[in-house]
Amino acid sequence: MLRPPYTRYNRLYTYHLDLKDLPAIDDPDLIGTWIEDETAILFFHRPKERLVKTLCEASGATVLYEADLDYTDWEAGREIEPFTVGSLTVAPIWEKTAADISLDPSVIFGSGFHPSTRLCLEGLLKYTSSPEITINTALDLGCGTGLLSIAAAKQGVSRITACDNNRLACQVASANCQANEVEDMVTVLETDLRQQCPDTRVDLVMANLYKGLMLELFQNPDFWQAKLYLLSGFIPGMEEDLLAALPHSGITFLERTRNDRWCSWVLLRQ
Ligand SMILES: C[S@@+](CC[C@H](N)C(=O)[O-])C[C@H]1O[C@@H](n2cnc3c(N)ncnc32)[C@H](O)[C@@H]1O
Repeated sequence: MLRPPYTRYNRLYTYHLDLKDLPAIDDPDLIGTWIEDETAILFFHRPKERLVKTLCEASGATVLYEADLDYTDWEAGREIEPFTVGSLTVAPIWEKTAADISLDPSVIFGSGFHPSTRLCLEGLLKYTSSPEITINTALDLGCGTGLLSIAAAKQGVSRITACDNNRLACQVASANCQANEVEDMVTVLETDLRQQCPDTRVDLVMANLYKGLMLELFQNPDFWQAKLYLLSGFIPGMEEDLLAALPHSGITFLERTRNDRWCSWVLLRQ
């Protein structure tokens, strides 16, 4: 996350350590950390060889991998800049231009530039503007930066639960909700959807997730309690397996959209 004196990201210094529990790191150049598959991943604005060496000596960990790269390379070679979807303008927090949503993308998925996020944003704007459906409550499964939840709140959805299993994503999403003054509407929850899915008795479930996790959710009857589902994160070659995993009755396929190689489905539960 951006903290003073930093106002944007330039270069990233990342360290992967074989460490399951990371002590708190108090360093002004720290962007954030997370644990993934028993590996700790540390992100800094500046090189941190000495700090990492001390950490390894104290914990017995080793550096598995380290890299320094431009922020644009982390963001798939793309400059993060303002964009507009329908009536909604989104700008990175370091841009001075007026925007409906001001976002710190940090090193978390959900800057808004990935085609799957864009499909979700488009679907969200379309269905929250539709006179035929009322959306007061929503779930954002795998919220990343929190962009979809913030957009939902800006569209008038009054109660949203945003969840992610990545602690840094939850921290970034919470900070973004505060920066956009929607923290009263959005509750951010750190949870692993493979272990526990939040209550889906809501008007809208938004899920931009990888196929394996989507399949697991599809097979859980508790997942199918919402009114409307806005799903993305898969490519055409994955759709057959996902279609086969849908409940045999009670679901109407409203829409399929594509952006680049990525697909999005909108499903309605009767
Ligand atoms: C493709 S990103 C989507 C981010 C954002 N919703 C968007 O549309 O841009 C998927 C998110 O799901 C989260 N995720 C992956 N596996 C998860 C799990 N088992 N439980 C909860 N969240 C998970 C990731 O950390 C990531 O932030």
